[in-house]
Amino acid sequence: MAAVHAHHLGFGTDDLPSPGPTFAFLSGDPDRAEAIALAHLHEPWPLSRNRGLVSYLGSLEGTPVLSCTSGMGGPSTSIVVNELAQLGIRTIVRVGTTGSIQPHVAPGTVVVSQAALCRQGAARDLAPAEFPAAADPFLTVTLAEAAATIGVPHVVGVTASVDTFFEGQERTATSFNPMLLRRNVGMTEEYRALRIVNFEMEAGLLFTQSLIYGLAAGAVLAVIAQRTESERIVGADEAEAAVQAAIAVAVEGARRWLAR
Ligand code: URA
Repeated sequence: MAAVHAHHLGFGTDDLPSPGPTFAFLSGDPDRAEAIALAHLHEPWPLSRNRGLVSYLGSLEGTPVLSCTSGMGGPSTSIVVNELAQLGIRTIVRVGTTGSIQPHVAPGTVVVSQAALCRQGAARDLAPAEFPAAADPFLTVTLAEAAATIGVPHVVGVTASVDTFFEGQERTATSFNPMLLRRNVGMTEEYRALRIVNFEMEAGLLFTQSLIYGLAAGAVLAVIAQRTESERIVGADEAEAAVQAAIAVAVEGARRWLAR
């Protein structure tokens, strides 16, 4: 592969071993990208810190892997996924947080997302609205089996990926803006009736982009809000426990994926 420098990620193929990594964990939160690398990768090595995007190289099962940051939302995710693909990454597991909209999916549960209702503007730059935002089915099964094996409560289901945390997820009580567009009023109830499990902000774009680029993508999402009860995020300790459960599922899933 000709040398590539990823402008936004802040590193390039010259910073990677040969053969290079083909697998990446992708977290919205740079601290989570770092925590995954430091706690779970063998010989973690900081590659870059650029524009809030933290990237680490390490290994798992004797294979080089990356732990990187998507940033929040579709536009940032689209740049990171494009650059990771240019650097040779072919499998991406998003490790994120989410709000449940189903009463039986409590905080602490991990949602293994099989597909997304993709209401994301950035995805419309890649494909028409009818394009399916689906996770890789084999990676999704691997992640769900990993969760079952290590005993993490999980559900496999459809996620709603939207562009905003407040208006786009029908938040008013915790938002500066009490006004919702008419089309957003009642949306959560409608999605619940469609058996959509949760709201988040990156998986739909990641799935769309990965299908178009020929990558395998999956998502494990820690439930940190229960929207049938409240708009609020649970307390810090409860949220951290949920995130650790999602990380454990992602890492066990990655081990299985890399060993197959
Ligand atoms: N992330 C979201 O997008 N929504 C939530 O409610 C929690 C995390």
